[in-house]
Amino acid sequence: MKVSISRKAHFNAAHRLYREGYSDEENLRVFGKCSNPMYHGHNYELIVQVTGEINPETGFVMNLDVLKKIIKDEVEDYLDHKNLNLEVDEFKTVNPTVENISVVIWNRIRTKLDSKYDLKVTLFETPRNFVEYSGD
Ligand code: NI
Repeated sequence: MKVSISRKAHFNAAHRLYREGYSDEENLRVFGKCSNPMYHGHNYELIVQVTGEINPETGFVMNLDVLKKIIKDEVEDYLDHKNLNLEVDEFKTVNPTVENISVVIWNRIRTKLDSKYDLKVTLFETPRNFVEYSGD
């Protein structure tokens, strides 16, 4: 019997989406307002979902305080109030789209999580735009 537990988190970050070699006009056409050369911020909302068996001794899938600490160390401390393009290694050469940010978050949490668990992250860039990544 597998049960999923989730924890929500939040961070603010700045980014710019663009392709080197595109003119500002082409970048605006492809990436819209997110191509602003002066950068801009988003309020990212994150849901981290961990799925596993209930431990019969504790009744927990995993201790949510442990998950809270992993999210703080690997996501909030790493991304909150950062300029993603300029300050985060993974985005030096990769566009910090909500898709790519979700993959970075998933990879960082995955390394801290026991392999017996399944992991899914859901990342909202705006209240209406969000992506999901499960490692596939
Ligand atoms: Ni944007």
